[in-house]
Parts: sequence; structure tokens; C-alpha cells
Amino acid sequence: MTSIDFISERQADLIIRAETIFKDLASEWKRAHHTGMTEADRDALREKAKEMAQKEFKAEETSMLVDNEESESDEGPSLLTEFERIQKERENLPVSKASADFIKLLETNQVLVIVGHTGSGKTTQIPQYLYDWSVKRGQKNLIVGCTQPRRVAATSVAARVAKERGVTLGHQVGYTIRFDDKTTKEGMNATRIKYMTDGMLLREFLNDPELSAYSAIMLDEAHERTLDTDILFGLLKMLCAKRHDDFKLIVASATLNAEKFSKFFEGAPVFTVQGTLFNVNVYHATKPELDFVEAAVTTALKIHLQKPKGDILIFLPGQEEIDDAAHMLEDRAKKVGKNEMQLIINPIYAAMAQEDQNKIFEPTPHNARKVVIATNIAETSLTINGIVYVVDCGFHKTKTFNPTTKVESLVTVPISQANAIQRMGRAGRVQEGECYRLYTRNAYNNDLLPDIIPEIQRSDVTPIVLLLKSLGIHDLFQFEFLDPPPVECFLSAFDQLYSLNAISDSGDMTTIGLTMSRFPLDVRLSKALIAAANVYDVLGPVIDIAAMLSVDGSMITRRFNQFQGPKEGEDKKNANSFDTDAMRQLGDMGDGTGDHMCLYKIYREWIHQKTIQQQSSYWAQSLSLDTRYLRRGEEIRDQIERLCDDVGMDINRDMDWDDTELSERIRKSLLAGYFGNVAHASLAIASKEEKKKPQGKRNKPLGAQLEEVSIKQVQYTTELNGREVFVHPSCIGIRHPPRYLFYHTCVYTKKEYMRQVSMIESEWVAEVSPPGYMEQMKGLLKGKKEQTHQQKKDDDEAEQIWQKLSQ
Ligand code: CDP
Ligand code: MG
Repeated sequence: MTSIDFISERQADLIIRAETIFKDLASEWKRAHHTGMTEADRDALREKAKEMAQKEFKAEETSMLVDNEESESDEGPSLLTEFERIQKERENLPVSKASADFIKLLETNQVLVIVGHTGSGKTTQIPQYLYDWSVKRGQKNLIVGCTQPRRVAATSVAARVAKERGVTLGHQVGYTIRFDDKTTKEGMNATRIKYMTDGMLLREFLNDPELSAYSAIMLDEAHERTLDTDILFGLLKMLCAKRHDDFKLIVASATLNAEKFSKFFEGAPVFTVQGTLFNVNVYHATKPELDFVEAAVTTALKIHLQKPKGDILIFLPGQEEIDDAAHMLEDRAKKVGKNEMQLIINPIYAAMAQEDQNKIFEPTPHNARKVVIATNIAETSLTINGIVYVVDCGFHKTKTFNPTTKVESLVTVPISQANAIQRMGRAGRVQEGECYRLYTRNAYNNDLLPDIIPEIQRSDVTPIVLLLKSLGIHDLFQFEFLDPPPVECFLSAFDQLYSLNAISDSGDMTTIGLTMSRFPLDVRLSKALIAAANVYDVLGPVIDIAAMLSVDGSMITRRFNQFQGPKEGEDKKNANSFDTDAMRQLGDMGDGTGDHMCLYKIYREWIHQKTIQQQSSYWAQSLSLDTRYLRRGEEIRDQIERLCDDVGMDINRDMDWDDTELSERIRKSLLAGYFGNVAHASLAIASKEEKKKPQGKRNKPLGAQLEEVSIKQVQYTTELNGREVFVHPSCIGIRHPPRYLFYHTCVYTKKEYMRQVSMIESEWVAEVSPPGYMEQMKGLLKGKKEQTHQQKKDDDEAEQIWQKLSQ
């Protein structure tokens, strides 16, 4: 229970005054704590605080602030005691109680597996123990790294630990996530405890294969089995053998099946943290709920209206569902009586801005109830205090990869029983809780898999193969995996890297491949940058585009999501007309050739607006662009530029091509990475009027038909494997449907949609792709035709049989 729940107005005022008065003293306290505070120090400081307080406050206020032990620890009315309160919180964590045993085991083992319930203090405390211990071993200048599968967890935990140690975030305690480095390299404040995404540690191997800057690594959330963590398992195992005497590895997991990890590390000891978990009553839906957003909102409202105090955590698969649910909940909460407790709605997902993410950790005011609506991010990586009710929709988004079509996509699928148990557990941390599953008991028992499938078995491993090869690991079949990826995925990765010229015929890394591996980007995007630098002389613009494509959910897509349809209670007509107008305006900023040029022009215009006037945000607002995303794009752009500089790629700033030439060069550079994503128009879907015309008049050649229809009416076919695809409605940059185009990504909803598309000429593919690629394509197409022919024969046969049977 947080202190704020019971605070009186008077006490609150007192805190504000005390915070100002005790500011210096609080810093002194933190310093003392840092250098090892003794009881005598503590008493002396307390005495000093008392003296100061006596001067400034009335006697009873003084006792409220500094005299009263209870108020110091739990009510925490001053800054001074807030720091102390955090220390007390730390001491009470299950992990802290076991710290001595942990250190003892660490003395005699290089690798430890640590298991404990979520919230027991693994992530926040263990890296601190590791660092404090390594200082004693004379490794005070080395870093303790702790990996997280999710960016939000890395940043928020780093912030918490900085607070616990009384230091500024980014100094002694910091974090690194892709395109965001909050660490200090050198000097007094150099970062020694570093939280980072697992992907960032992987990249660190490229710069420093022995991780010589580190004394220890904690692989956190190992049970999640993300692709990057799984690769780290193998690399760190090799490293442990090399640095046997001066390197420690901790594998931390929230679930109890840690034997597999222990076995992988030749029987490393499993250290179990005993924690208490309160009983959670589980309720299952009696019938399957088809619309889980609706069901989640209804359930949460019901809890709000009928159940005692306690915060609610709703699990939904992704951003779109979360935004929808937040909107619906807000709307409906307004309609319930004014006398009800206030409902504070906090969505959380990875693509959210930092300041919005931090809101979920704020204590809930006493007259309110908080509802956190989250993806599986809140399953184990984040602990939100005060949750008593969990609503579990039973689905999450996961990656799938089809090695034949080479399409990786995010799909919404049922969770596993292990996920469901974790979700349930989130309700029992502070007191007895309740968990509402929006699926039946039968579904839980029979339809959910017992455990998750490791990401490595359902991902595109191309970037991993590239990375391992650049680390000198040539024979990937010899690399030790916890669970190896399917062989087809390996073959597909080799295929992709070979076609991008990243590896040679003999499977060796090429110079291009080596350069590509330096960029934390999709391999195809890295290839586009290289082509832009080496062949087409348009590196600057292609960096702009690469940055814009890397901004989370790209702002255009976001905008589209935002206006995808009127939310409940909104005026349908208004929402739609705004949607089309705003999108058309943005589309007009490009040159009509596609989304890539559009992104480039928008970005450049934003930079231009910033230089000519102070009101660039006004400009952005007039186009409904989110400046946070533009700024983020700018940061990413600068970092890509720095990386280009590091590998000696030259940015030619005076490009004196005319607009058409520039646009062509930019699209050719991008195509040099994405030639595998080319599609051609295969069918124009006739409008209703067209359909009414007699057959003869409808049969125009495709080229003529394309001129008459909108891009959304055209079905495209991918060159590589003949999939039927459509242009996503969020596409704004193409004016007329082209014969040929390439796409950035594909998404499946009702149909398969291409996102971020640009038109090309068919001859360009031969120009940008490596020799042999076109021949391979022709072979593929021939095979495809034969297949279709056979299929047709089979279908005809089936039809005949069916006819006979039904006579
Ligand atoms: O890693 P594990 O799930 O075992 O626990 P943790 O993340 O270290 O969290 C320990 C405690 O720190 C939690 O109970 C939270 O109360 C607190 N914490 C926090 O207040 N703010 C954060 N950003 C992270 C943790
Ligand atoms: Mg944790």
C-alpha cells in the first residue's frame, strides 16, 4: 500500500515545504548512503534534520517529519525520508533476504540461474549486488550489464535503480536501447550498472567480442526466450569459457522451469528466491467471447462498479486494441454515476512515448482506481504496484515467419498456459486478487499450449546469421542453441544474404556483408544505404528515409490508425472526412511515386520549418503530424549518419539532380535492398458500374484498366512467390496505380497488405539485383506456372467428382 493513500491535506502541504528546505540535506544523505552510511552517520543526519525542522516548523509538524519512525518509513513525508523509504522497500524484497546466500554461491560459481516470482527484486537488485561485489574484487571500473527483452523495461528499471542509488539516470546507472543511449562512457559518473535490450548486448559483441568492459552480465527474463536472448545464451557460454576467472553470468527467469537453462550451462546451480504470492481466484468465461476488446471493457467496468478498491490490469494483444479499449472505457466511465470512484486509464505498449509510459508507475490517488491496459509487456517485465484485478483476453501478438514466402509478420494468436499463469499472478502481489479470463476453462485446458514456442523457431534469422558470421562464427550448425531454428529458416537466411551480396558463393562474409552488419537495421535497409552511398550518390536522402521507416509505427501509419474509423460516440462523417483530407495533404507533399519519397519530403520540410521559424510544431499540427515522432526520426537519423561515417560512407550533400532523377536514384537505392519485395499489378477489381457493363466492354487490357481505378482496387502479385497482395489503405504517396512497385513490409488482416510502397520500372530490378537473380526468378515463375496448371487440373477433377456425387 503506498503512503499517499492516507495522506491528509496538511501533511501534503508540509511535504512540499519540507522538500525545499531539506533539499541540500537530502543530497548529503544520499552521498552518505552511497559511501556506506553507518548508524552514527544516520543519527547525526537525523539530528541535523531535526534542528532544521525545529527552526522552520511547529513542534508537532517537526515530529511528523523527522521524529516519528513510522512516518519516516511508511508515510515518507519529506524528500529525506523518501530516499530512506525506498531503501526500506529494497530491504523488504524477497531477493534482499536471500542476498547473502546469493553472494556465497557467486563466489564459487561462474554461472548461476536465479528464479523468483515477478516483483521479487531480481531485476532491480541483482545487478546492484553484482556491482557492489565486483568492486570488492577490484573490478570497480567494469560494467555490470543486465539485458531485457523489452525497451520499456530497460528504461523504467534503470530509472528506478538510479533512484535507489541516489544518482542521476545516465550517470552511474544508465540504459542503452536501439537509437537511445543514456550512459556515460568515462569520468567520475561513468555508467557501471547498465540496463539494455538483449539486442544491444548482441551488437556490443561486434565492438568488443570479449565484452572486456563487463565484469558480469545478467540475462534477464530468460523464460521469454526471445530470439536475441537465445543467441546470447550461445555467445555467453563461449565467453564464459574464455573468461573463466573474471566474468560472471546470471540467468534470471520468472518461471520455475529453469532446469533447461541450468543444463545448458553444464549444471549451473539454480538459486530460488522464496516469495509470497497471495491467492488469486480465477474466473473463466462460460462461453467464448468473440470480441475480446468489448468483453475486456465490459469486465473492467463491472469490476469498477462492483468490487472493492484495487487497481485493474487488462491484457490485450496490441496497440490498436489497447487504444480502442482505452477510448471505450473512458467513454463509458463518463456515463456511469458521478459518485463513483474516478477511473484513471493508463495504456502501455512499447511504441509509447517515455513520459506516457512512466505514468503507469504513479501511485493511485485514494479516491480513484487505476486501469492499466497493457500488452504482454506487463506479464513479467514490469511490476505495477497495487494491481488486484487482472482481465486476460487470452491472446497476444507474436512473430511468425514463413521461410518459403520469406514473410515475417506479427499475428494475434492464443497465449500459452504459462503466459496465462503469469498474467494471473499479477493480481496476487499485494493482497488476494481476482483474475478474469475471457476464455473458457475448456479452452484453457485443451486449446492453449503448455509453454511458449521460442522466438528463434518462428523468426527470420537473417540478421542473426549476418551477425554471427561477422563475429567469425562460420559454421552455424556448430553453434550451440538452446533450441535450434528449423533448417529451412537457416537456408532462407543464407539465400537472402547471398542475394544481397552479403555472403559469397562459398558462404563467406563479403565486405558488403561486413558493412551491413554494422547497422542495427533490417539487412535490406542497410543494403539500401550502401547502394545509395556507392552507386546512386543519394546517401543523405536514403538516411532520412531509413530513419523515418525506423520510427516506431512510422507516423503515417500512426496517423492512419488514429483515424482508421470513428471511435464509439464520435461523429462518423467528421472522422472520415478528416481522415481523407489530412492524408491527401500529406500525400501531396511527395512526388506521387510512393510513400518513400513522401516520407523524405515530409522529413525535409520539417527540418526546413525548424530553421525558418519557431513554430515548426504549429506547422506539424496543421498537418496532424506528431512532432514526437518527427523528433525521434531526427535522433535516429543522426545516429545512422554517425554509423555511416564510422564505416566510411560519404554523404554527398550537393546533389544537383533534377527532381525526377533524384527520385529515381532514391527508389533504385531502396530497391537494391528490397528487390525481393517487388509486386506487379495482376487484376483491377471492377467498380459496381463497371460490373454492370456487358462482358465485352469490360475486357480492356490491364494497363488501360489501371488508369481508371484507384490503387485500392488493384490486386498485386508478388514476383518472388506469387502471393496475392493489396496496397494498405494507409498508403498516401502514390497517385495512380503503377504496374510495378516494391513494399517495405506486409501485414495480414483480412487480406495481405503491403505497407509503405513505391512505384518502379520493371527493368530496374535487373539493374539493382546481383547477377543470376533474374534467372533464378524466371525459374521460380516457371515452376509456379506449372504448379498452377497442375492445381487447375486437380480442381477440375475435384469438380467433376463433386458433380457426380451431387447428382
Ligand atoms: O525482477 P523482478 O520481477 O523480480 O522484480 P523487480 O523488477 O526488481 O521489482 C522489485 C520491486 O521494485 C517491485 O516490487 C517494484 O515495487 C519496484 N519497482 C518500481 O517501483 N519501479 C520500477 N520501475 C521497477 C521496480
Ligand atoms: Mg524482472
